[in-house]
Amino acid sequence: MNNIGKDILRAAQALREGNLVAIPTETVYGLAANAFDISAVAKIYHAKNRPQFNPLIIHTDSLEKLQLFDIQLPEKAKRLAAHFSPGPLTYVVPKSDKIPDIITAGTNAVAVRIPNHQLTLDLLAQLDFPLAAPSANPSGFVSPTSAAHVAAQLQDKVAYILDGGACSIGVESTIISFLQEQPEILRFGGLALEAIEAIIGKVKIPAKGYSDNPVAPGMLARHYATRHPLILGDILSHLKNYPADRVATISLSRKFMQIPQNQQFILSENNNLDEAASQLFAAMRQANDFDVDVILAEIFPDEGLGRAINDRLKRAAS
Ligand code: TXA
Ligand code: MG
Repeated sequence: MNNIGKDILRAAQALREGNLVAIPTETVYGLAANAFDISAVAKIYHAKNRPQFNPLIIHTDSLEKLQLFDIQLPEKAKRLAAHFSPGPLTYVVPKSDKIPDIITAGTNAVAVRIPNHQLTLDLLAQLDFPLAAPSANPSGFVSPTSAAHVAAQLQDKVAYILDGGACSIGVESTIISFLQEQPEILRFGGLALEAIEAIIGKVKIPAKGYSDNPVAPGMLARHYATRHPLILGDILSHLKNYPADRVATISLSRKFMQIPQNQQFILSENNNLDEAASQLFAAMRQANDFDVDVILAEIFPDEGLGRAINDRLKRAAS
């Protein structure tokens, strides 16, 4: 198919015409539509088979543009934005009348983000509307971190895939809500908690464990489904229950003598959690393609992007 490339003008045209375009960001690829065009946004829900109650993040290229859409960032959000915009952070703030209800699933809060990817920033700069964009995967699956990942699942559902290469961060943005006095992390992601708290002080963080009664709509426990069951915990002790050649592993740097080497996904030889995060989703996809019975994943250090990695692995395992 010839609908993958780096043609920003073509992407902009398709979006103006109300079509879907997959866009690269530093976190994961997004499935984008004109956020002001209700029938275009409806196509996102349809293409992803996404429940209507799950709201969408809107993306734009600058803080000034946000003001054009009547969106005001609260004081602490502005302080974060001064450091991390553009970047892997999504701000949940009061909705403005310009934002259609289909974006916010009828709630009075909207999630906004300025992604840090030059191709997409150049695209957004040409548009006088924001882009609604969830991750470009069918609902419940692992997010795409390359144009090829998008094409594998959604190529026939999009007018164009803007190919910006592999995503540098590789896990979705950190979502932080400013609806209450104390800001609250709704999803751990590509910006570390430590970096956020260094700027605005203590924030509320998600309780350990995940429920089917989400704080944010759509933050269901079951997510990132893998074809093979994924078990999270001490790999060596779970390994006793399976023939070693029927196992794929996901670990930070540990190697296992018993398991065929190509079935082991080591996310960072030198224990770098940023590097590990950037490799995680591709590893989950590849592990699925092997003819094995189970994927065993270890629990990562609970710091930096390790929190986002553990969150995604827990959701895949539950
Ligand atoms: O990195 C990212 O955030 C990527 C890229 C494409 O920007 N986008 C992304 O979108 O991960 P999505 O739809 O896959 O996940 C967004 C999450 C959903 O769980 C949704 O429920 C939540 O954000 N969300 C969206 N709007 C919200 C709102 N107004 N209030 C609370 N949660 C919201
Ligand atoms: Mg998603």
